[in-house]
Amino acid sequence: MILCKTISDLTKVLSTKKASNQTIGFVPTMGALHAGHLSLVKQAKQKSDCVVCSIFVNPTQFNQQLDLLNYPKTLDNDLKLLAESECDVVFVPGIEEIYPFGLQKMDASVLGSITTVFEGAYRPGHFDGVYTVLTRLFDLVDPNLVYFGQKDFQQCLLVKKLIEFQNRSIVFCMGEIIREADGLAMSSRNIRLNEKEREAATEIYKVLSFIRYNWHSASAKDLTAKANEQLERQHFIQIEYLSCVNANTLQAIEGIQMGVCLVAVNCGTTRLIDNVLLP
Ligand code: PAJ
Repeated sequence: MILCKTISDLTKVLSTKKASNQTIGFVPTMGALHAGHLSLVKQAKQKSDCVVCSIFVNPTQFNQQLDLLNYPKTLDNDLKLLAESECDVVFVPGIEEIYPFGLQKMDASVLGSITTVFEGAYRPGHFDGVYTVLTRLFDLVDPNLVYFGQKDFQQCLLVKKLIEFQNRSIVFCMGEIIREADGLAMSSRNIRLNEKEREAATEIYKVLSFIRYNWHSASAKDLTAKANEQLERQHFIQIEYLSCVNANTLQAIEGIQMGVCLVAVNCGTTRLIDNVLLP
């Protein structure tokens, strides 16, 4: 595995790969890697000749300074895990490589209303930061395929819109959500949960599974009401949103459409998101 810390290193390495017609599969991350990230690397490995993973804690997508300061950093372990997963190139840029002219953000609302609801509404500026950093990373890596996790479902929609809007020839691939044995979606932030919060957090996937299981036998309204009630009963959990919507537009579901149930909660002081698709 080759470690690149600068754009010039990355460009040199990738130009040889591209000159020999190798396809580049790209997995952008913010580090603190777990099995969810590694599953994306493994999928990329199956479909591309060269897998590039980036590790960059992007300051412009954090809407709370404390969240950015507390974001876990485990670079040595991340590099070990990536080498074991047969990642080919890891790009760990410094902030000045990504933001040479300061932390200006692009406006993600050009990608439409999927950027202004749910995460867009609860985390003002978050998607502007994601849009900015991914535009920069896609320019630098120039990948053939990109891999993102369903865990951040709205982010996946943003990436699809970005590719379309910027007219890039990139194939978008979405990886399934990797969960702990008790159903909690893996997240770099899970280590911040204390024992009681960790236990309460298992209820998130339980209510999502309840909705998916009963999707064809009850109305979306009744199911979300019951799920909200159940989740609200948990100590430590405060719901930001729990909603079943059209999986393409994130607007109300009408008729037979692919749906998604999106949920965001604060569990103690840790914010957790999850979702299930509703076929
Ligand atoms: P990060 O939270 O590190 O996640 C990197 C990728 O891993 C994302 O595509 C995310 O959806 C995926 N992922 C996280 N948890 C997962 C899980 N349990 N199962 C499967 N995939 C999972 O998302 C970001 O970083 C940033 O916003 C980024 C795209 C890197 C831009 O800064």
